This record gives sequence, structure tokens and C-alpha cells, in this order.
Amino acid sequence: MANPSLLILAGDGIGPEVMGQVVRIIDWFGEKRSLAFDVEHDLVGGAAYDKHGTPLHDDTMAKALAADAVLLGAVGGPKYDALDFSVKPERGLLRLRKEMDLFSNLRPAQCFDALADFSSLKKDIVAGLDIMIVRELTSGVYFGEPRGIFEEGNERVGINTQRYTESEIDRVARSAFELARRRNNKVCSMEKANVMESGILWREVVQKVHDEDYPDVELTHMYADNGAMQLVRAPKQFDVIVTDNLFGDILSDCAAMLTGSLGMLPSASLGAPNADGRPKALYEPVHGSAPDIAGQGKANPIACILSFAMALRYSFDQGEEAARLEKAVEQVLADGARTADLMGPEDGTPISTSEMGDAILAALDASL
Ligand code: IPM
Ligand code: MG
Repeated sequence: MANPSLLILAGDGIGPEVMGQVVRIIDWFGEKRSLAFDVEHDLVGGAAYDKHGTPLHDDTMAKALAADAVLLGAVGGPKYDALDFSVKPERGLLRLRKEMDLFSNLRPAQCFDALADFSSLKKDIVAGLDIMIVRELTSGVYFGEPRGIFEEGNERVGINTQRYTESEIDRVARSAFELARRRNNKVCSMEKANVMESGILWREVVQKVHDEDYPDVELTHMYADNGAMQLVRAPKQFDVIVTDNLFGDILSDCAAMLTGSLGMLPSASLGAPNADGRPKALYEPVHGSAPDIAGQGKANPIACILSFAMALRYSFDQGEEAARLEKAVEQVLADGARTADLMGPEDGTPISTSEMGDAILAALDASL
């Protein structure tokens, strides 16, 4: 049988350096676990713009649609700030999400014991935290029409549209309930039904999906602003949170920071299953391109490495190997390995991106 295929789009900023460590880990699984992948590399974001004048070439889009999974680093940087909106690096990522129809974005926020002290919140509030944010990723205000900047009388008006169909809400709600059943069986749905009609519909549909097909899962609803407050007040009350594209963008950054660093948080963006049962899938760290530290070997590769662990679990049905990789990460953190993002100014010398990769590979070897 052919090896499963991976398309790697390292992108911009720290993307290439953190992805470099992921490639070493992929090779390790090929050599030591007979889990080989056919890996291809291509460009996305500013890197693609520099070469092709577009943040995502049509050939790359076609490769992404054909691959068994896509691994993405990060896109964007100040170099591209002045570009026209239509060719900004972010448009490349948004096109991938839209054309692969990756409607369900899983963003786990898990606090590693070794890092509980590093959160900006008190240790007892975050220790043991394990929540999953399911963010709708292909609709809402990110894609709704009309959109644009228009003339209106003697001034301009900027317009974006929040728009959700019942089927779009239905399918992401289902993915949240399915996940909850494999976790602690609780879903909290967040919207602003107090001020938005799209929020009223969201609440109704989520409740209906629940009542018809998932009555065994505990469902609550919360206004998204209260959700933001509860996330920093008492985050452990949550198991799975399901929310729309924009609220999910904001709430997931908030949840991520509870864990001590954005450099730790992976994500999976999943579509409907293909004929082979595998969902269309793209895996990427939640952190951005961090242009301020790019190219200096300071970046934390863990979020990107844990994104590959999610690929093992959600695309390749290798839950045990995913757990092996996650345990290796936990082990090196427990042993005190720290990149700069995981240290205060007085905490000594951080290790580099590749030294973190070395440590994780050593922990993987030790797991055999
Ligand atoms: C994210 C990012 C993206 C988003 C940007 C880079 C387009 O913030 O994945 O959370 O807003 O969705
Ligand atoms: Mg974001």
C-alpha cells in the first residue's frame, strides 16, 4: 500500500524553523515506527506571494485537495502589510480553509503540569486544564457577503456580514457533540443571541441537534462575552466549547494563553470524511508567524509538533503514536526544557528551536 501523503506548507516567519523540527519527527516515525509518509513541500502566504504574486498558487491548492493531510506553519509578516487585501498572506490560509471546506476547527487548550506556574493566572485555576474549543471555520463574518468598503453619501462605510445557514451550524454542532462523547461529555455553545439574529438561530439549531441526536451530552449555552469572562475566571468548568468563526478566533487565543504560552497550542481543521473515511484536514499551530523572532532559532516548535500529533490521531488513526509524541513533549517539559517563550527574564538561558527538537527526539527514542 502507498504511504499516506502529507503536504507541508511552512509559510512565513517562524513557520519554516518550527516545521523543520516537525520534519525530523516525521522522519523518526518513518524510521522507528514503520509509519512512513510521502512528504511534499510547497509555499503559502508571503513566501508564495514573493514567488508567484499570489499567497496560494492554484497548483498548491490542487495539491492540498489531493493530500491526505496538510501541515501548515504560519503566514504573514510586516513585509506584507502594505499589500492589497486580496493578496495578503492571510488570504492564502483562508482560501485553503474555504476550498477544503474545513468547517470544524479543533483548538485544544491543555495546561501541562510543568507549565502551570507560567500561566498569567493562578496555578490552581489552570493546573490540569483540558478544554477543546470547536470553532466554525468556513463561514460567518470571515466570508459573509456583502463585504467591502463602499461610498455612502460623503463618506465611506466598511461592511462585513455575519451569516450562518442552519446546515452550517448543524454540522459543526455535530462535530462538537461527537468530540464531547470521547471526552467529558459536556458542550457549551457560545454566541450573542441577545443582540444577533444569527446567534438566535445558532442557539436554536445547536439545541435541536442535541435534543434529536445527542441527548446524552450535557449542553449549556452562554453569551460569548460571558464566555470570555468565564474562561479567565474558572476555565475548568468547560469541556468542549462550540462557537462561530469570529468568536472562536478570539476565545481560542484567550484559552491558549491560559496554558502559559501560545507556543504550545496545536490545532486541527477538519472537513467532511472522504470516500476513504479520512476527513479533509489541515493542521497548524495556533501561534502566528512571530516576525519579531523569526530566523533566530528562538521559536518554540511544540505547537507545530503537537499539530502533527493531532494529524496522527485525526487523519491517520494512530492514537497510540499520537499519545507517544504528546508524552514525549510532556516529558521534556517536566525535565525542564524551555524555549524563550516559556521563561521569565530571570529564569536563565533558554534552549533553541532545534535543541527542543533534539530533546523531543531523545524522549521519543527513550519511549521505545
Ligand atoms: C487564526 C488566525 C487567522 C484567523 C488569521 C491568520 C487569518 O488568527 O487562525 O486564529 O483570523 O483565523
Ligand atoms: Mg486567531
